[in-house]
Amino acid sequence: MARDGATYVCQSCGAVQSKWAGQCPACNGWNCLVEEIQSRPPGALAPSRATKMRGLAFETLDTQTIPPPRIMTGVDEFDRVCGGGVVRGSALLLSGDPGVGKSTLLLQVCAQAAVNGARCAYISGEEALDQVRGRAARMGLAQAPVQLAAETALRGIIDGLKRETFDLVVIDSIQTLWSDAHEAGPGSVTQVRAAAGELVRLAKTRGVAVILVGHVTKDGQIAGPRVVEHMVDAVLSFEGERGYPFRILRAAKNRFGATDEIGVFEMGDSGLREVKNPSALFLNSGGERAPGAAVFAGIEGSRPVLVEFQALVAPSAYGTPRRAVVGWDSGRLAMVLAVLESRCGLGLGARDVYLNVAGGLRISEPAADLAAAAALASSALDVALPQDCVVFGEVSLSGEVRQVSRMESRLKEAAKLGFSRAVGPMGIADVSPFPVSGVGRLVDAVRRIGENDWT
Ligand code: TYD
Ligand code: MG
Repeated sequence: MARDGATYVCQSCGAVQSKWAGQCPACNGWNCLVEEIQSRPPGALAPSRATKMRGLAFETLDTQTIPPPRIMTGVDEFDRVCGGGVVRGSALLLSGDPGVGKSTLLLQVCAQAAVNGARCAYISGEEALDQVRGRAARMGLAQAPVQLAAETALRGIIDGLKRETFDLVVIDSIQTLWSDAHEAGPGSVTQVRAAAGELVRLAKTRGVAVILVGHVTKDGQIAGPRVVEHMVDAVLSFEGERGYPFRILRAAKNRFGATDEIGVFEMGDSGLREVKNPSALFLNSGGERAPGAAVFAGIEGSRPVLVEFQALVAPSAYGTPRRAVVGWDSGRLAMVLAVLESRCGLGLGARDVYLNVAGGLRISEPAADLAAAAALASSALDVALPQDCVVFGEVSLSGEVRQVSRMESRLKEAAKLGFSRAVGPMGIADVSPFPVSGVGRLVDAVRRIGENDWT
């Protein structure tokens, strides 16, 4: 029999149950329901707040609205991903794997914003003040007028933030906070939800922008950030492949801006450096292009980005050929392979296929189909694409090459970086800054590559 006020919260999806069970009915995970004592069910309003609610007031859709005031932090890549600066009175979650550079990024954002005149606080629950100071000194930010504190008690943080006026507050991280109103341990869903709830309320009532840091683990063990995603106005994720210095900041949700924008940074000895021209970074510069390499002219958010697709088609040593892909969708790889096989007569079925997107970037555009196909065909036929050639276009199951969005921007970016040839859909001839003819079907593209025919 459940104790009074006891609920069972799933630690992997956050669902709340009134009875314990071995399997969570919401996400079907095993052994993830943990008893938590709560004074009232989550989401229920306290009586004082409930009675304060008044009747609805309706307005029309065309009522004049003023754009929300924003804080430009001065870290341009960060500001752009936020939709043009951080909105005052909004709450933002920055999630990412441990060690990817969240603390480094936010310390830099805080310091830069403080230098530009914003009143900024950085509250660390993970590192001691000396550690944060040491890092700031290494990054050359020691002189920035940032208010620093090390605290994990939610009550202490809220009281402290109410005593002073801030424009921007960073909480690093939400998983370390604990509220004495709940019995559960720090990092549990109950604590994370309680802390995020209080901090979001503080952001709204006092007009301060609050940035919460949340760790995600590969096996999704800590459900904290998932629960917080619904409560905040924007969710940014910070990603990077191990072994590469590049870090990508992506908006996964943004109530005040677009969600397809990316910011690119490079991790160095003195912190993160903004990369204003990502194309130059992701291109394998210098030397001849090897067979199996194709430069994809992509669009990430509002910007064109050139990135190299690398493919290797090799004889298979085993009965079942291997397929491995990094930076692209394995489902789409399977589709492109099938189209190459059945529409272009390229026998890849019994061979190992490896596909890699250089630089650690993850590509999700359908426009990359043709680039992947070109890289695969180039490797299979052992013919290199010309050094100055970019590729883009969507490939349909029938083997057609379809038009994609913003073809002119893609080609202009390519031209800017010295490219003067392109393999793409039929429409490219009309919008290209250099003379080029499109291909209607994938088989035509493969023929061009095979015959090295670029006239
Ligand atoms: P950190 O910001 O602490 O990661 P997170 O807060 O996401 O856990 O960054 C940790 C990594 O970044 C660490 O492996 C060291 C590296 N790093 C640098 O390479 N250069 C630097 O200037 C800094 C501050 C960190
Ligand atoms: Mg950290």
